[in-house]
Amino acid sequence: MNSNSTSSSSWADSDPSLGEVLLQASVIQSKIRELGKIISRDYAGRSLLLVGVLKGALLFVADLARAIDLPVEFDFMAVSSYGVTTKTSGVVRIVKDLDMDLTDKDVLIVEEIVDSGLTLSYLVRNLQARNARSVQVCALLVKEGMQPSGLDIAYTGFVIPPVFVVGYGLDLAEKYRNLPYVAVHIE
Ligand code: IMP
Ligand code: MG
Repeated sequence: MNSNSTSSSSWADSDPSLGEVLLQASVIQSKIRELGKIISRDYAGRSLLLVGVLKGALLFVADLARAIDLPVEFDFMAVSSYGVTTKTSGVVRIVKDLDMDLTDKDVLIVEEIVDSGLTLSYLVRNLQARNARSVQVCALLVKEGMQPSGLDIAYTGFVIPPVFVVGYGLDLAEKYRNLPYVAVHIE
């Protein structure tokens, strides 16, 4: 029996490209509640601007925001560092910029996954230059051993092996984003 059958996504059960389920939906959701509590405590008495990185972080932002017991604002950015392949191009380009002015805001960049760390290093530097009061990072998934030193991730959900994963916002050529769990994609 395919391990995907433990989920409710029946269309995915018969997809031969989907391998092991690394994180079940319930495991993801309980981690997000935990992260929300820690973030609420760390920023107590303040308000927070969540900056989601489109499109992958969409589901994570939506769930994390509801787990944070503070006044929260949202904004979104879209950057391109990958095409339709699974390899990084090494180039980060802002496709959609923020709508908001960051002056004096406590900014939390919300990313679904950190692989090489290239996208995030670029974003942190870019947002820090906009007079924010603080800029921190919350990443749901961090791939083992891939990040350049100096990249500071304040909040990490899970450290995963360096394999290509899909689901819970993560795609391969725009597919699989709506899976409620995270699974390995087999090429
Ligand atoms: P980085 O710049 O190498 O850290 O790549 C970050 C971005 O690449 C993420 O925000 C994702 O959009 C994408 N990415 C990296 N690894 C994966 C993966 O395993 N599955 C799907 N997308 C990925
Ligand atoms: Mg992303």
